[in-house]
Amino acid sequence: MHNFEQAVVVITGAARGIGFAIAEAFAIANATVVIIDLAEEAVNTAVATLTNQGAKAYGYVGNVTDGAGIEALFAQIVQNHGNIECLINNAGITRDNLMLRMKEEEWDLVLNINLKGTYICTQKVFKHMMKARKGSIVNIASVIGLMGNAGQANYAASKGGMIAFTKSCAKEFASRNIRVNAIAPGFIETEMTATLSPEIRESYAKVIPLGKMGSPLDVAKLCLFLASAESEYITGQTIAVDGGLTMH
Ligand code: NAI
Repeated sequence: MHNFEQAVVVITGAARGIGFAIAEAFAIANATVVIIDLAEEAVNTAVATLTNQGAKAYGYVGNVTDGAGIEALFAQIVQNHGNIECLINNAGITRDNLMLRMKEEEWDLVLNINLKGTYICTQKVFKHMMKARKGSIVNIASVIGLMGNAGQANYAASKGGMIAFTKSCAKEFASRNIRVNAIAPGFIETEMTATLSPEIRESYAKVIPLGKMGSPLDVAKLCLFLASAESEYITGQTIAVDGGLTMH
C-alpha cells in the first residue's frame, strides 16, 4: 500500500522484536532502513536478514542514551544515506519490581533508556528534519503508560512520559511540517513476552476484547501509516494497538 522508495527511515532498538518487524515492513515498502541498536551481533544478523530479502538496510551500533554519540551517528547517516524522513523511537527495556523493592538503579535505567533516549534521538533528528521541513517521528510507548501496572511503576512513568513528550514535540514541531505521534502497543508476542506461562497468557486474553495477543506486524503497520502522507493531518496522537484493551 505504502511506498517509501525515496525515504530514509531510522528505527532504534530494531535488531529484534517489534523494532525488527517495523524495519522489515519499511523494507518491504522500499524504504532505506537504518537500524540503531546496542547489540552489535544482533544488528549484523538483522541487516543480513533484510539484505538477503533484497532490502536497502544498514545497521549502526549506538546507545540512545548517549547524546554526543547519537548526534554524530545521525550526521553520519544523513551523509551516507540522505535526509532522515522518519524516526521510530522504539528502543526500550523493562526492569520490573514492586515499589517497595524498586532500586534507584532500576528506576534510572528504565527512565534513561525509554524516556531520555527518546528525547535525545528526537532532538538530534529534529535538527536535520527542520532543514528539510519535512518529517514524521513515531514513539513506541505502551498501554502501561496509559493504565499503569503493579510492579512496573518505572516503566509506566517512562511510557506515560513519552506520551506527554509526544504532545509537546507535536506542538513545537508542527510549524516545521514535522509530525510526532505515539503508538501504545498492548500485549505483543515478542521475546519479552515469550516467557509468560500459558495461564498468564490466558488471563490476558480474557481481558482483551479481541481475545488474543497482538503481533509485531500489527504495530509495524501503524508505523507505516503514521510515517506516510496518508496520515498528514494527524499529529500529537497516541494510538493504541491493543485488541481493544484500553478502550473507553
Ligand atoms: P526487545 O527487548 O525484544 O527489543 C528491544 C531492543 O532494543 C533490543 O534489540 C535491545 O538491544 C535494544 N536496546 C535496548 N536498550 C538500548 C539502548 N540503550 N540503545 C539502543 N538500543 C537499545 O523489546 P520489544 O518487545 O521488541 O519492545 C520494543 C518496544 O516496544 C519497547 O520500547 C517496548 O517498551 C515497547 N512495547 C513492547 C510490548 C510487548 O508486548 N513486547 C508492549 C508495549 C510496548
